[in-house]
Amino acid sequence: MNDTLIKGGRIITATDDYHADVLLSAGRIALIGEELDVRADRVIDARGQYVIPGAVDMHTHLEMPFGGTVTCDDFTTGTVAAVHGGTTAVVDFCIQERDQSLPDALATWHEKIERCRPLADVGFHLAVTDLTDPARLEELAALPEHGVTSIKLFMAYKGAIMVDDETLFRTMQVAGRTGSVVMVHAENGDAIDVLVREALAAGNTDPIWHARTRPPITEAEATSRAIDLAALADCPLYVVHVSCAEALAPVQRARAAGAAVWAETCSQYLYLDETYLARPDFEGAKAVFTPPAREAHQQEALWRGLETGVLSVVSSDHCAFRFADQKALGRGDFSKIPNGAPGIEDRVELLHETGVRSGRLTLNQWVELTSTAPARLFGMPAKGTIAVGADADVVVFDPERTRTISAATHHSAVDYNLYEGTAVRGGPSAVFVRGTLVVRDGELVGEPGTGRFVARERFGAGAALTAA
Ligand code: URP
Ligand code: ZN
Ligand code: ZN
Ligand code: ZN
Repeated sequence: MNDTLIKGGRIITATDDYHADVLLSAGRIALIGEELDVRADRVIDARGQYVIPGAVDMHTHLEMPFGGTVTCDDFTTGTVAAVHGGTTAVVDFCIQERDQSLPDALATWHEKIERCRPLADVGFHLAVTDLTDPARLEELAALPEHGVTSIKLFMAYKGAIMVDDETLFRTMQVAGRTGSVVMVHAENGDAIDVLVREALAAGNTDPIWHARTRPPITEAEATSRAIDLAALADCPLYVVHVSCAEALAPVQRARAAGAAVWAETCSQYLYLDETYLARPDFEGAKAVFTPPAREAHQQEALWRGLETGVLSVVSSDHCAFRFADQKALGRGDFSKIPNGAPGIEDRVELLHETGVRSGRLTLNQWVELTSTAPARLFGMPAKGTIAVGADADVVVFDPERTRTISAATHHSAVDYNLYEGTAVRGGPSAVFVRGTLVVRDGELVGEPGTGRFVARERFGAGAALTAA
């Protein structure tokens, strides 16, 4: 028996806000009610605190080979960091290697979670890089049988994992028929490749050139193209890491027209701007992620997108490379800086601080953006809400808990934090993964292996998915 009674908290879901007790039993939310008179092995006093569904991070890159190195958080350290920040499920990108079959690619990622024994639940998206072998199309169609119902394509990173429009379109055709959603990294990789080579030839090698060679129009063009191709293929589309107003505009138009198009932004675009890339002594490399941090005025457009529902999700795109030896690969050539930045631990608290506490987002919107929408869109009906029968992925969130974000205290294996020195008020006091207490008052109390693979349902199964 390992039942927990959470007493007197303020339950916040994407739609509700009320006070009640919650009983967690056998991995599920068993009862919700006022003054529950039940016995439990553990009682948590949640008076003055929120009881929210565990957050879901749809966009992580754990132990991912990229740019000649491998991201430094594996499924152990990455999910330890996640649960400290109230994230109880992640969906990571399994990347197909050239000539690799899709089942083999998935087997590679399953091996990672068997070896690393995550703290949080883990699902996989499949990132297609090569459909040359006709067998791949059948494998794509069969992905939902493996619990994988989202397929990612990179429209950038030429010469590495970028796909052409034929690959993108054929994938969309299969996904539309078989109940998967297609996710795109939308940037015009061909144009960017030209701009990068021109910059290097002119001797422009510093990190700021990462941003200068990927202007907003390269993101906007690819976003529009993906939206149009998805419409042609009759396939639902999810645009990852939208960074600017220019790319938001076609998403807004498509959604207003009722198209099956959704988009996320990520923490780093809300809080950082491109001046970070110009920091001296190569420090700008810490903020080399793609699409790049934009001019500061773009943040306002993203916040408007969140407030008005044009953007449906805030993810982390956690893709951690150590500054000391991994980012250093690009000293003297910005194009060799491994692209990506950490953020898995800080996403929920940052959005609480800068969204809810600043009055831009309601508590319900905060839960919707960080938990409910990703669970609903990506086929995890047992997650993302506080309801009887749902997974007992529950966070008791103390709105008065204070902390200063720092690499000295974070739980990722990476040696820097983009938000170093930022004070946040509000943080988890207790975090449960399917009923198991994994974090209590900032201390890890759960065991590796608490997390399980989540087989996800087909896109749209069991939920009304409209663009509205
Ligand atoms: O820079 C980034 N975002 N790295 C991770 C790969 C991707 O494009 O999402
Ligand atoms: Zn990307
Ligand atoms: Zn990413
Ligand atoms: Zn700790």
